[in-house]
Amino acid sequence: MCKMLSKRLSGIEESATIKMGQIAKKLQEEGKEVLNFSLGEPDFKTPEHICEAAKHALDLGYTHYVSSAGIKELREEIAKKIREENKVDASLENVIVTPGAKQAIYELMMSVLDEGDEAILLDPAWVTLESAVKIAGGVPKWVKRLEEGVKYNSLESVASENTKMMIINSPNNPVGYVLSDDELKEIAEFAVDHDLLVLSDEIYERIIYERRHVSIASFDDMQSRTVIINGFSKTYAMTGWRVGYAVAPVEIAKGMLKIQQHSVTCAPSFAQFAALTALRSSQECVEGMIEEFKRRRDVTVKRLNEIGLRCLNPEGAFYAFVNTSNHGNDIEFTERLLREAYVVVTPGSAFGLAGKDYVRFSFAASIEDILEGMERMEKMFP
Ligand SMILES: Cc1ncc(COP(=O)(O)O)c(C=O)c1O
Repeated sequence: MCKMLSKRLSGIEESATIKMGQIAKKLQEEGKEVLNFSLGEPDFKTPEHICEAAKHALDLGYTHYVSSAGIKELREEIAKKIREENKVDASLENVIVTPGAKQAIYELMMSVLDEGDEAILLDPAWVTLESAVKIAGGVPKWVKRLEEGVKYNSLESVASENTKMMIINSPNNPVGYVLSDDELKEIAEFAVDHDLLVLSDEIYERIIYERRHVSIASFDDMQSRTVIINGFSKTYAMTGWRVGYAVAPVEIAKGMLKIQQHSVTCAPSFAQFAALTALRSSQECVEGMIEEFKRRRDVTVKRLNEIGLRCLNPEGAFYAFVNTSNHGNDIEFTERLLREAYVVVTPGSAFGLAGKDYVRFSFAASIEDILEGMERMEKMFP
């Protein structure tokens, strides 16, 4: 490691998804017919009325800094949504609008973790959650959650006097599970008994199929110890707009705001007006995208089963977590797929040890591409 770099950076890996995307792009530039299933973003266009709202905001001159915590109307609208949908008593003071949910996660970690504080993550987990803990000086502790549910006792087995935070993400990236009410109850009880803060990343809350989304913040005694992380990237296909938010106990929101003020200042002003329109308008556009994701999910699972590649049933988000153990570990499988079929997926071990024999297949791609990808895989694994 270069001597100029901080110790903080050791143990932080480059984002696996971004890395796989770069490999796919390079192969495409070489003229290969690459199919990329490593992406973590909806392939739909941002709905027209949301784009129009941004153009209108630009015309009105919203091209400067705005209040660091976010524009008042948007914070109020988010608080209203949280009150109505999550049955949590939120108001403007609890809400901070950030340039993407990722930034909210970093601000939270920097606000609450001290050197050596431990944070429990469910293995596998979206890798930014682990990196953010480490960058803030914290120590990740892992509890496996693939098909087996989360139990109080397994959380207890990694707890120590340094445990400060429990991190959950449901619907989940990369596995696609949705935590059951029973699991949420066990986690909530554990958090209360151990006086922990819970980071609940709910960014895929609307991309959910047979189940309904429940926020852990709505459980008894949980609101005062939960920070909900959410944003507009996935629900409204707005990844490039960089608008996310956190709903946090007031003191924590104030702490995060300090970091925001001294780093990025605010989320893009005109994008916040677009986000406001996204929340206030009909949600039909979202329903259309979810219907399409469901169609793709069904095709993906059916074809994977036909090929003999077992995946865990994705109940939410847009990822299938596919078991590779009949064909080598995740790295061998990913490399072979890339070399022989120009199909790009993300190795599961990038998300934690439990992902070692899995790859993440993102079905945020057209049905045609999914079918073609499956055909290529079928030829490889007849
Ligand atoms: C679980 C999870 N949270 C947050 C994000 C990032 O969201 P944003 O684009 O708002 O930073 C992602 C993106 O992949 C994600 O998978």
